[in-house]
Amino acid sequence: MDKLLIAGGSRLSGEIAISGAKNAALPILCAALLTAEPMTFSNVPQLKDIATLLALLGQMGVEISADGDTVTLDASGVDNPVAPYEMVKTMRASILVLGPLVARCGEARVSLPGGCAIGARPVDQHIKGLQAMGAEVGVEHGYVHARVPRLKGARLFTDMVTVTGTENLMMAATLADGETVIENAAREPEIVDLANCLVAMGARISGAGTDVIRIQGVDRLHGATHRIMPDRIETGTYLCAAAVTGGDVRLTGTSTAYLDAVVDKLMDAGCEVESARDAIRIKAPARLQAVNLRTSPYPAFPTDMQAQFMALNCVAHGVAMIRETIFENRFMHAVELQRLGAMIRIDGNTAVVQGVERLQGATVMATDLRASASLVIAGLVAEGETMIERIYHLDRGYERLVEKLAALGASVRRVS
Ligand code: UD1
Repeated sequence: MDKLLIAGGSRLSGEIAISGAKNAALPILCAALLTAEPMTFSNVPQLKDIATLLALLGQMGVEISADGDTVTLDASGVDNPVAPYEMVKTMRASILVLGPLVARCGEARVSLPGGCAIGARPVDQHIKGLQAMGAEVGVEHGYVHARVPRLKGARLFTDMVTVTGTENLMMAATLADGETVIENAAREPEIVDLANCLVAMGARISGAGTDVIRIQGVDRLHGATHRIMPDRIETGTYLCAAAVTGGDVRLTGTSTAYLDAVVDKLMDAGCEVESARDAIRIKAPARLQAVNLRTSPYPAFPTDMQAQFMALNCVAHGVAMIRETIFENRFMHAVELQRLGAMIRIDGNTAVVQGVERLQGATVMATDLRASASLVIAGLVAEGETMIERIYHLDRGYERLVEKLAALGASVRRVS
């Protein structure tokens, strides 16, 4: 199994391009299931999660052709509306095929995702919404089985803000009979990107990006082209990597537009952040100030940036309180950071981080995608070598990580 070897101590500088957003590409590729006409997507990141989803779509009968970051999907021949356990278990976002399949094929069988490293993560809200739209939904042999001749528009209220839940129901509603209103909808930028793609396909949607989304169902959707938005979490991760090394880095193909909460914290930590239309430059001081944070749904501070900021706080001046409110059990990186010499105390959903002057390289283990990113960030400032094991998690969500870090002057390589 591959490992990542990082020799800490290099100050990051230079320029790299940010990739398309994984969490936008996943639902948007699933939207291709809603039409019998070809869809073409550009700026699709080449990641393990995307490959998993394409394999899943392929076994359903979707024809796929890819050329670099452009992917064309033709779902005219979908004949097997099933998402098997073997695929869903490796990527929870596979549940995103449920809404489009029920809407277009009148039936879907999708394996329950089960638990994952960062908590239970149920899909009850996805199911509740489809039932409210008239689908008969049962759980049989570990699979969600949904059936309905045609979904009916309905007023939906999710018990909590759920990103993929909102996306699944919004996609399903595009082909329903009548109007659907999703209240308490997630407001993440990826939802707006998905809505823009659906509108280009002929869907009638208003309110995406607010907590009330209205969808007027249509009889059919047509083919379209769509460019995936930049990855705001990849952007934030490189901003943290630059910040922690006292670096001076420019990121292109991205913007601060969706990163207010993150940029705010970086400025509190002492960084200068300049934003241009299609680029961001960060200049960091020799040592950062500790910053408190609390994760919440967009537009507040994203849970997907919590681990990276924990790494940053590990070497900052002062004490930081980090509260995780979205997922239980999302502090698995803390014990690994402690192996590098970090001083972290966990109390329920709060972590208290006392910054130390330096971390020391050691062997650590990646536990999930963003936890892995926090270990990379810590490794960049640790004295000596840090070996990160189980880096397949990083392959799920960071395109060409080693090349990008190396281009910024980091000493990092992949070893078998
Ligand atoms: C998405 C993101 C993930 C991010 C998360 C929160 C994708 C592919 N993934 O995950 O990177 O960390 O949003 O910003 O976009 N919940 C339920 N029942 C449900 C649905 C959710 O109880 O039916 C709970 C979850 O367990 C969690 C909370 O709601 O505690 C939010 O989860 P949700 O927004 O659904 O996360 P994902 O969409 O899976």
